[in-house]
Amino acid sequence: MPLDQPSPAASGLEGVVAAETVLSMVDGEAGILVMRGHSLAEIVGRHGFEWLIGELWRGFVDRDLDEAALSRDLGTARVAAFEALRPLFPAARALSPMAALRLFVASVPDEAPEMELRLVATVAVGLAAAVRLRVGGEPLAPDRTAAHAADLLRMVTGASAPAAHAPALETYLVSAMEHGLNASTFTARVVASTRAGLPAAVTAALCALTGPLHGGAPGPVLDMLDAIGPPENAERWLDAALDRGDRLMGFGHRVYRVRDPRSDVVKCVVATLSPDAGRLRYAEAVEAAALAILARRKPGRSLQTNLEFYTALLLEALGIPREAFTGIFAAARVVGWIAHAHEQVRSSRIIRPQSHYVGPVPVSG
Ligand code: ACO
Repeated sequence: MPLDQPSPAASGLEGVVAAETVLSMVDGEAGILVMRGHSLAEIVGRHGFEWLIGELWRGFVDRDLDEAALSRDLGTARVAAFEALRPLFPAARALSPMAALRLFVASVPDEAPEMELRLVATVAVGLAAAVRLRVGGEPLAPDRTAAHAADLLRMVTGASAPAAHAPALETYLVSAMEHGLNASTFTARVVASTRAGLPAAVTAALCALTGPLHGGAPGPVLDMLDAIGPPENAERWLDAALDRGDRLMGFGHRVYRVRDPRSDVVKCVVATLSPDAGRLRYAEAVEAAALAILARRKPGRSLQTNLEFYTALLLEALGIPREAFTGIFAAARVVGWIAHAHEQVRSSRIIRPQSHYVGPVPVSG
């Protein structure tokens, strides 16, 4: 490789096409997300979580993918997952929700029946149990007759929510289920390419998701809003954060050079919950300050609001503890990981790139 070109490692593989997929298209210049031929705008408000599972798994998962069948069988899978995880609850009590979720997902046997639904159910049931155990409570058993989003919300918050809350969570889940070759999905495909099995691919993807540059961002978004205090502090606080070399959580994206379309979807949902839900007006003021500062300080790159900024507000407004935000993201994205893992296995070759050695060479021999 010529020395004047950035190495693939330094460029973070930007622009490298590492897979062909029929699952989603992310147009970062136009700000468009398409999943299985449907634009995000077309899906949101019209279709729910179980419907999108059917779309994403079509041709990859050999089972009845009708929405009603998926809803029924996912309910059954949540009940089975809860019983399977029960022996691990004592160990999970001492762990953060994400560490407990890692334990739970890794415990799914390689030969579990209805593996795909079992993994989707395990993330939802396991996250909810982990949150309850963390505060010294007892996990709530799933309701097999409920829709997945509503049951997840009830199990996590431990309370019956206002009528608008479950549809609001479902809109977020649908927006976050699938998004091209992001870091966690790429991880799932690498592991799947070794034929390691679906629980291994999903466990690895979950680990990749937890980093603050990926799915770990929304909790720190709220930390940032708390730390800024009154909106007139925003500019000074944000400038100081950039001076320290920090990243502003909820801004920037590898692919989007315009506003992340999912961000607007989620923001609209926050606005429907109540006029001041989730500190919306305050967050808008911070967002405007952040965008202005990023444009001034990083002029060569169009850094815009990403999914995670308004997700943080939405999940807070739904009464979900911030420690669980990344797990809620996983409860959505697990569906895409599974589809990609199957797609990768079909494409047959192990993913095995090269590294370019830049270290010392032996003096002799
Ligand atoms: N705050 C401050 N500076 C930033 C930010 C940010 N949020 N995002 C990018 N930059 C800077 C980079 O440091 C880089 O500056 P440099 O050239 O002086 O080193 C420049 O802007 C260009 O960065 P990009 O190449 O656009 O960023 P990259 O593609 O490498 O990273 C990422 C994308 C990880 C999302 C980044 O924007 C970031 O760290 N954002 C904050 C964390 C976040 O919100 N993560 C959630 C992402 S969305 C998701 O996963 C669903």
